[in-house]
Amino acid sequence: MSAGPLPTYRIAVIAGDGVGPEVVGAARRVLEAAATAHNFGLEWLEITAGGVGIDTYGVAIRADDIDAAAATDAILLGAVGGPRWDDPNAAVRPEQALFALRGGLELFANLRPVSIHPALVPSSPLRPVLLDGVDLLIVRELTSGLYFGRPSEERATADGRVAIDTLWYTEAEIRRVVRLAFDLARGRRGKLTSVDKANVLATSRLWRKVVEEERGSFPEVEVGHQLVDSCAMLLVKQPAAFDVLVTENLFGDILSDEASVLAGSLGMLPSASLGERRTAHGRFGLYEPIHGSAPDIAGRDLANPLGTILSAAMLLRWSLGQEAAARAIEAAVGAALDDGYRTRDLVPAATDAGGLRVVGTAGMTDAVIERLGQRPGQVDSGGAGDDDTVASMIAANTLLGLP
Ligand code: IPM
Ligand code: MG
Repeated sequence: MSAGPLPTYRIAVIAGDGVGPEVVGAARRVLEAAATAHNFGLEWLEITAGGVGIDTYGVAIRADDIDAAAATDAILLGAVGGPRWDDPNAAVRPEQALFALRGGLELFANLRPVSIHPALVPSSPLRPVLLDGVDLLIVRELTSGLYFGRPSEERATADGRVAIDTLWYTEAEIRRVVRLAFDLARGRRGKLTSVDKANVLATSRLWRKVVEEERGSFPEVEVGHQLVDSCAMLLVKQPAAFDVLVTENLFGDILSDEASVLAGSLGMLPSASLGERRTAHGRFGLYEPIHGSAPDIAGRDLANPLGTILSAAMLLRWSLGQEAAARAIEAAVGAALDDGYRTRDLVPAATDAGGLRVVGTAGMTDAVIERLGQRPGQVDSGGAGDDDTVASMIAANTLLGLP
């Protein structure tokens, strides 16, 4: 035990709707266990937002709560939305909370790492040979494009209803996310694929020009351009060929759900949304699983908590500078999978779960916590361990080091 006061971090937590409270509760338990094992303290600021925000306050998120979240070290978010708030004519929608946080806090880069734990190869519908060596990172632009372009509305005209969304990008919006992606590629295998639809869209042609302008600053990175339709095909045909992908908001949304099939389940994938702003410990960011609120399984202890638990590891790494604790969580997740623990979504359709320990949200969380710090010499060293599966999880999740 070290002497002196423990460093204490403040985390805003937005559980949201559907399975959000269950998966966020799981990640909080894991973070608390990691804090105890690694000698730091955590303070939580709970914020009501999403559909529950609409029910409680009449808005998806209150402006004061965005300010309060901005004053913490990081935000952990579960999921928002559900059929109760799906009225297409509603003026307030749960997703507005996400956009207010992402846009309002200028979290323009959404990092979605995709790696395959060896034990989950049978959980993917792809042939094992295709999954060999898959370790990619999707960098999705998160605060512009069709999600934020105005106008975005439906109009009544003499010819019937018309709806319009606006695909808009400024040069600066493209440049900042492209530069971050180059930087990340430099810290990984040095390969960047920029994904666009330059044969059709003006925004994509500007995107391509900016990528070409930036490549000179990153001579060690090999850059390629890929049209989004063929990229979607290649992601399942030869996924191991990719390292870092950088793309606009909607393309990144779609391609990351597609890529989750490689990892065995949408429930496995974490994400970090980062901007330029630094805190005393790292970069300010928002961390959330890429899956949605899954209302059909909410409240039934069925949700896979690993995407949120791995998001919590990214939070430790990027926003708190707690690399050893981040690695310990990633190693514990790997160990739980190696020991056969599976939530329902991870049980291969073709098998009868023989030999696997099928557990719920709480059981999986317990399995991870039990394995936290189980091999402290290995996870605390910061160096490569002698366990290949642990090492590959770590390698896949170890992004650019903090400054
Ligand atoms: C995601 C989600 C959100 C998005 C939804 C819930 C609005 O699909 O984070 O990928 O489209 O960004
Ligand atoms: Mg999505």
